Amino acid sequence: MTNSEEALKYIRDGMIVGLGTGSAATAFIRALGERVERGLKIIGVPTSEKSAALAKELGIPLKTLEEVNATLDVCVDGADEFDPQLNLVKGLGGALVREKIVAAAAKQLVILVGPADSGIKRSKAKLGERGVLPVEVVPFALPLCQRKLTELGLAPILRPAGDKPFVSDNGNYILDCKLKPIDDVVAFERQLLSIPGVVDTGLFIGMADVVLFQDHESLQVLTR
Ligand code: A5P
Repeated sequence: MTNSEEALKYIRDGMIVGLGTGSAATAFIRALGERVERGLKIIGVPTSEKSAALAKELGIPLKTLEEVNATLDVCVDGADEFDPQLNLVKGLGGALVREKIVAAAAKQLVILVGPADSGIKRSKAKLGERGVLPVEVVPFALPLCQRKLTELGLAPILRPAGDKPFVSDNGNYILDCKLKPIDDVVAFERQLLSIPGVVDTGLFIGMADVVLFQDHESLQVLTR
């Protein structure tokens, strides 16, 4: 059983489902599309233009966050790192802001990760062991955010897309910051968010309810 198939157990007729972004979320959207084709009645709320396009192609009915009054039953997404409390680092796919908004609007956040050698980092103790934290910033504020994040020792690098900067679905830039294991994730997040121009960070603290961690043939269901 794959973690996408396991995630389908959290979905029932009539639900409003957040559709994540990235390879794990894509596999889930495809599995969900097959169920919809066989008669499952759900509404999807995508976290990116890319996931919206895929869901449309698969015939999954979609609504905006506004149309569902920011109330979802469950959101299924991937992650780049998780710690024993199921705090996450996300955003290597560049959709962190919409992912966090849709996840916050959902009653339950189910995260699909693995296998272990795919680059996902299961931190033994502190989040940050993988070493990268994406931070989305307003383009106008780029020089300020770069300076402030550099002062914090985070060596921010403007994410490229070819020979131009990567631009998120929100029209913003991503600064990939160098991370060391974090002692106090809440205080660290607050410090980053206090920088004018920072829209959000890839830290998802206390949000995930379940991590479905696939390590090749074994599937672990981790709950908070
Ligand atoms: C997208 O912005 C990300 O948050 C992804 O969910 C995360 O990077 C995990 O991606 P994969 O499922 O591709 O590993």
